[in-house]
Amino acid sequence: MTETVVVERKKHTLPTLFKKVADGIPITWLTCYDYPTAYLQEKAGIDMILVGDSLGMTILGYDGTLPVTMDDMITHTKAVRRGAPNTFLIGDMPYMSYQPSIETAIRNAGRFMAEAGCDAVKLEGGVEVCDRVRAVVDAGIPVVGHLGLTPQSVSALGGFRVQGKGAEQAKRIVDGAKALEQAGAFMMVLEMVPDRVTKLVTERAENCIIMGIGSGPHVHGQCLIYHDMFGLYPKFKPKMVKVYGNAGEVILNGVKQYVQDVTTRSFPQRENYFTIPDEEYDKLLKMLQ
Ligand code: KIV
Repeated sequence: MTETVVVERKKHTLPTLFKKVADGIPITWLTCYDYPTAYLQEKAGIDMILVGDSLGMTILGYDGTLPVTMDDMITHTKAVRRGAPNTFLIGDMPYMSYQPSIETAIRNAGRFMAEAGCDAVKLEGGVEVCDRVRAVVDAGIPVVGHLGLTPQSVSALGGFRVQGKGAEQAKRIVDGAKALEQAGAFMMVLEMVPDRVTKLVTERAENCIIMGIGSGPHVHGQCLIYHDMFGLYPKFKPKMVKVYGNAGEVILNGVKQYVQDVTTRSFPQRENYFTIPDEEYDKLLKMLQ
């Protein structure tokens, strides 16, 4: 008799992520917001998943991330965890879930860990959020920082645009990165930061993994927004994205075909429905007389 052996993938931990960096192997990271996509991403071997507050735009259809609540995040993060039980999972702290106070930050970070089964949380900002980062780390929760384009501050930053093109702004990013590392962040993501500024951050990092999205090759790994890479966000396609397939077009054509099939009665076909056995049907007719 043959025995089926199910080999479960081992989930990354902080030490295995740092080992990848030490071995010079880039870390792979994608956003994800639902169960079936999480299942596919884990199956494809992605290292880490971010349930980003970008779900405000990609899933909930807002113009930005500010309306996203902790409850929205927890619902989606739980679904992702069910689909990807063996992937390092990072919950993104939404607007006003950590800004008001240290206590708010610890409580909400704790919800990601206790209710949604996260392995770490991410929050936006540099020097100004270091007290929150330190407090959450001290509560035993691994923290990922986020610098450069930080969408929760999009109004103050003047829109979704590259950050750190000028020397002064670039210095704030380099200083912010060092401060986050000193506050205990084990990882940070640089979003839309010019490549040479990113390189300076990565070179200066001592005990912190530097990830990039639209920030060039000089990082320890890359992140992309899943909906952008598959043509699933209808409003715009950021320049930094590589499109790996047009799922949006596949779905659009499929729905158009369905509309036509139903209208012309070519759906459903015999294989798409169920019948009652003749004998039972005759009995039923008699019962109804
Ligand atoms: O919310 C998000 O998806 C993010 C990534 C862009 C890093 O923060």
